[in-house]
Amino acid sequence: MHTRTLGTLTTSALGLGCMGMTHAYTATVDEPASLATLARAVELGVTLFDTAEVYGPFTNEELVGKGLKPYRDKVLIATKFGFTIGDKAKAARPSGTDSRPENVRAVAEASLKRLGVEVIDLFYQHRVDPDVPIEETVGAMADLVAAGKVRALGLSEASAETLRRAHATHPIAAIQSEYSLWTRDPEENGVLDTCRELGIGFVPFSPLGRGALTGALKNLDGLSDTDFRRGLPRFQADNFDANLALISMLEQMAANKGVTAGQLALAWVLAQGDFIVPIPGTTKIANLEKNVAAADISLSPAELQELGDLLSPAKVKGERYPESMAKMANR
Ligand SMILES: NC(=O)c1ccc[n+]([C@@H]2O[C@H](COP(=O)([O-])OP(=O)(O)OC[C@H]3O[C@@H](n4cnc5c(N)ncnc54)[C@H](OP(=O)(O)O)[C@@H]3O)[C@@H](O)[C@H]2O)c1
Repeated sequence: MHTRTLGTLTTSALGLGCMGMTHAYTATVDEPASLATLARAVELGVTLFDTAEVYGPFTNEELVGKGLKPYRDKVLIATKFGFTIGDKAKAARPSGTDSRPENVRAVAEASLKRLGVEVIDLFYQHRVDPDVPIEETVGAMADLVAAGKVRALGLSEASAETLRRAHATHPIAAIQSEYSLWTRDPEENGVLDTCRELGIGFVPFSPLGRGALTGALKNLDGLSDTDFRRGLPRFQADNFDANLALISMLEQMAANKGVTAGQLALAWVLAQGDFIVPIPGTTKIANLEKNVAAADISLSPAELQELGDLLSPAKVKGERYPESMAKMANR
């Protein structure tokens, strides 16, 4: 696979999101399948792997560390700190943030242990903490770089202004926020423009619309009671049915081109800039192979325009997050 850069890091053009292996979408953890998926990803040339303290919580970092141990020298492991993790049972829907310098340091030490590595390649603040100036948090993150415990720094779901302030404190390699055919916020809130201007990488999360844009999710019955998507506005019955009609048009376009809907969705995101490295998530080798193949699909300007129009913000029904979670983003 061809490579792209996130600040000072060189990575495969597509990474692998590991969250679903122990968190959010799964009621049961299939560790052997996930370990096999991690190994296959390395074999296919994927070099960026995404996890976080809060996924599980904790179990995702352990799984990712275990699966990537044989390949440590070939891969970049990205993890995140910054949600409060008081009650484990509520970690799937965290409601508080903690980016105090002491927590930044404590999570880094704990993440290093759980991952079983000596350095975290990319350490992201998971959500901006309204109670801690970003300069203080990034200052603590920069100390970890100076100490050799972290290689590069990132933010997630930060506003363009916060990104600018953070980057002035210490170079930021990447910002990770939701971006896909059906979520265009980074185009509208200045974040993509700021990345272009400052030479910061952009890592779209949920680039497959949490699975919906693959066309594989035809109804909500298959989702477990605890599936995170059950609480998202776009996955409520009426909205979901309206969105499915758009997705069926995406599937038709994909069939005409001899690819899958998910591959078109990923190829569209990749085409938005060479500083963009999406991290589609999967627990399955078959899906991983399809996703990785999207890195080789090229789209004409007319196809890009058609795709962008098909799922334009005005047509998609429902917000990406409920109010309680939306207010934690773009601070
Ligand atoms: N920074 C943040 O706040 C934040 C938030 C959310 C996610 N993330 C990161 O971003 C990564 C990706 O986002 P995401 O997992 O939310 O959403 P996503 O990548 O848009 O979609 C993942 C879903 O799509 C399914 N899927 C993947 N490839 C498929 C294919 N080819 N055909 C059919 N179904 C397919 C997966 O199920 P299977 O496992 O069955 O394939 C999973 O349910 C996460 O793993 C996580 O690391 C970060």
